[in-house]
Amino acid sequence: MSNDATPNQNQFANKAQAWSARFSEPVSDLVKRYTASVDFDKRLAHVDIQGSLAHAAMLATQGIITEDDHAAIQRGMTQIVGEIDSGAFTWLLDLEDVHLNIEKRLVELVGDAGKRLHTGRSRNDQVATDIRLWLRAEIDVITELLHGLRGALATVAHANADTIMPGFTHLQVAQPVTFGHHLLAYAEMFGRDAERMVDVRRRVNRLPLGAAALAGTSFPIDREHVAHLLGFDEVCRNSLDAVSDRDFAIEFCAAAALIMTHISRLSEELVLWMSPRVGFIDLADRFCTGSSIMPQKKNPDVPELARGKTGRVNGHLVALLTLMKGQPLAYNKDNQEDKEGLFDTVDTVRDTLTIFVDMAAGIKVKPEAMRAAALQGFATATDLADYLVKRGLPFRDAHEIVAHAVRDCEARNCDLADLSLDDLKAYHPSIEADIHQVLTLEGSVAARSHIGGTAPDRVRVEAERVLAAVRR
Ligand code: ARG
Repeated sequence: MSNDATPNQNQFANKAQAWSARFSEPVSDLVKRYTASVDFDKRLAHVDIQGSLAHAAMLATQGIITEDDHAAIQRGMTQIVGEIDSGAFTWLLDLEDVHLNIEKRLVELVGDAGKRLHTGRSRNDQVATDIRLWLRAEIDVITELLHGLRGALATVAHANADTIMPGFTHLQVAQPVTFGHHLLAYAEMFGRDAERMVDVRRRVNRLPLGAAALAGTSFPIDREHVAHLLGFDEVCRNSLDAVSDRDFAIEFCAAAALIMTHISRLSEELVLWMSPRVGFIDLADRFCTGSSIMPQKKNPDVPELARGKTGRVNGHLVALLTLMKGQPLAYNKDNQEDKEGLFDTVDTVRDTLTIFVDMAAGIKVKPEAMRAAALQGFATATDLADYLVKRGLPFRDAHEIVAHAVRDCEARNCDLADLSLDDLKAYHPSIEADIHQVLTLEGSVAARSHIGGTAPDRVRVEAERVLAAVRR
């Protein structure tokens, strides 16, 4: 059946455009460029072929095409994969997109069998399937990278469970925390990001094929079979919805925007911590660059760029939402615009996470600078108030007493811990010799040993919990 067309009957293969029999004049070069997507959607070539092979297998099983045609399609596709991988494949703008380029080549290679591949299918359900297959694999890579980053953060956190730094609110010194605890905050954020990836994947992993152009097909197809072959958990239950909605891509972009938002917050801190005015950490030279004019500079380019690239990822989310909002059912060509933003989102998140796994693992911590900063700004004032409360004072009264003590210390240019026991007793007679342990940085962090607290022992437990989770 596959060889019953002579080349000159093979109109499809000879036409410049696959659908052009209906048209009396060609489109201009500009319109061709404007409407074509092959320059960017050729990235979907492998999943496009994977989807076509599953569709062809189902058509053969259902008796819609012959086994000979199926074998010819398989043979042709194997050759096409080889041509694409070796760079020998010729992509033609005239053929608009990845789907028509591959189909045209298949027909060149195997004749009528190639022309039968599109039976019961449309580019509309084809492209929706391709994007889902492609995105599913990328989601798995990103999820792994998130685990890798959590692991790197937890490793540094474990090593710095005892490293004390100032914790900030309003960027003012608030209370002492451990650097390990601070890093584990990000491990939590990236943990939720990984959960979101897993959750989005469930809705990505549904099969549109079989929806055809919009209404389904009159051929006796078996969609469950195709879903099984392609590893989809479910089949899209409405053909109009299957070809038209891109909500799965939008929610992926939303989850990606949150990943980048967390990366951006961490980046902001890395930049701040690396400033010589703060000096809490150093980043390896390979993540920094110098200045062309100022020889002394070592700039934290990678975190700065990551912070900047968050903007484009957030932008892609808004672009996709806007792309979708005005579209009537079912497929509209607007949807071709879903790809570049989605691709760029994936590339940006992947590259960023890959670099951050390495960069986070190599953070050079400067504990003395952190400690010196924590000793400024009366970071243990709350501990003194808590101490008084434990001796029976109402918290508001204790707060007031400590506020006086802080003012006096400011005037004397000293810290609370520098005050003698007699000085302290003057603020309240219940203060005893054990107060000095309470006012130390170590005493302050050790006291917060509950779940979620900053105590070194707790930080070690939580870091181990994260490490165990990501090694699973
Ligand atoms: N290149 C198109 C896209 O990305 C494929 C579907 C085209 N369908 C159509 N009826 N023109 O959405």
